[in-house]
Amino acid sequence: MKAVISSTGLWTPENSISNEELVESFNAYVDKWNAENAEAIEAGELDALTYSNAEFIEKASGVKSRYVISKDPILDPEIMAPRIPARPNEEPSILAEIAAKAAQQALDAVGRSAEDVGAVIVACSNLQRGYPAIAVEVQSILGTSGFAFDMNVACSSATFGLETARGLIFGGQAKSVLVVNPEICTAHLNFKDRDAHFIFGDVATALLVESDDMAPTEHWEIIGSKLVTQFSNNIRNNFGFLNTAAPEDDGLHGARGRKGLTDKLFVQNGRSVFKEVVPLVAKMITHECEVNGIDPHDLKRMWLHQANLNMNVLIAKKVLGKDVEIEQAPVVLDEYANTSSAGSIIAFHKHSDDFEAGETGLICSFGAGYSAGAIFVRKVA
Ligand code: COA
Repeated sequence: MKAVISSTGLWTPENSISNEELVESFNAYVDKWNAENAEAIEAGELDALTYSNAEFIEKASGVKSRYVISKDPILDPEIMAPRIPARPNEEPSILAEIAAKAAQQALDAVGRSAEDVGAVIVACSNLQRGYPAIAVEVQSILGTSGFAFDMNVACSSATFGLETARGLIFGGQAKSVLVVNPEICTAHLNFKDRDAHFIFGDVATALLVESDDMAPTEHWEIIGSKLVTQFSNNIRNNFGFLNTAAPEDDGLHGARGRKGLTDKLFVQNGRSVFKEVVPLVAKMITHECEVNGIDPHDLKRMWLHQANLNMNVLIAKKVLGKDVEIEQAPVVLDEYANTSSAGSIIAFHKHSDDFEAGETGLICSFGAGYSAGAIFVRKVA
């Protein structure tokens, strides 16, 4: 028995924010903050804030725009955060709602009815609450059978979720498993942080992972995989249930100690992440190709995590050689920005229709933890 990928789903929010819109709002905030703190700045007690820049953002990251669930409040210099009203417990929570939309698309793509699905895994970076698990709510919305649970491996949640689904199938717990990645990344992003305010967007993706005896004729065989973690403080979010037990901690490890830049939202040392993660991932891919007897040049495509375009180009060059074409490592971060665990799955969903039977590719995630996952797939039929 084999576990294969039967289909994928993608839910994209209606609204998008361009770099120019985001920078205009950020710079209005800078003017306001500097005016309000003019005396302290003059006295040398505070550093004046500096403008953000749309050209810098595109050059440094490759991001041109991002889809968001809540646009106007993010762009309002008085708010600079999404506003998603709390819902009564009787209504579906927002994370479960968008997860169910992506999952339903994956089911519809192969005509699978929900009751034939035996497990749902919600695998993402930011879970809306402690419990009940969002996945159990998704199970209830869709009407799937069996069981459901949440897991979080940050940007690598989708690949780790996919491997977990395979394990459940091999272990006989389920024959059909939905792995869903709802990512509302804008709610963990500090839009007042010049170094990071452009990084993230919102989205939800889904993978239907099934035993090959029930999968549709056309599917993706998994021919090799590897999961890796290595502890690092370079990408961190200290939000958690113990925050209330330490009210004196007003962002001890926050971004450069500046008031308003709390470590209870996303913080990173982007330059260090870039330098450390590129070799880690390139080595992992090259080594796993060797272990699985795959010539890297036979990989038609690498659907890489979507954090930084320059990072992906470097990884692709290290693995495939200097003459790498952009189609071999397709880019979605220009339009979607970083969507954490969903990034490589959006790339796979949007850039895999041209595969012929027998052709191979690689889904590869990397990010906070550090964590990295490599899943080699081969198209069947
Ligand atoms: N507008 C204008 N200038 C900016 C800016 C902005 N929004 N943000 C930073 N800068 C400036 C910095 O102040 C710095 O100026 P200096 O040289 O005068 O000190 C300069 O640009 C370079 O900053 P740096 O942070 O070194 O930029 P970078 O080239 O490393 O790009 C990232 C920043 C975040 C795009 C990049 O490091 C990255 O993407 N790293 C990988 C992150 C990653 O994969 N994270 C995973 C998250 S899940």
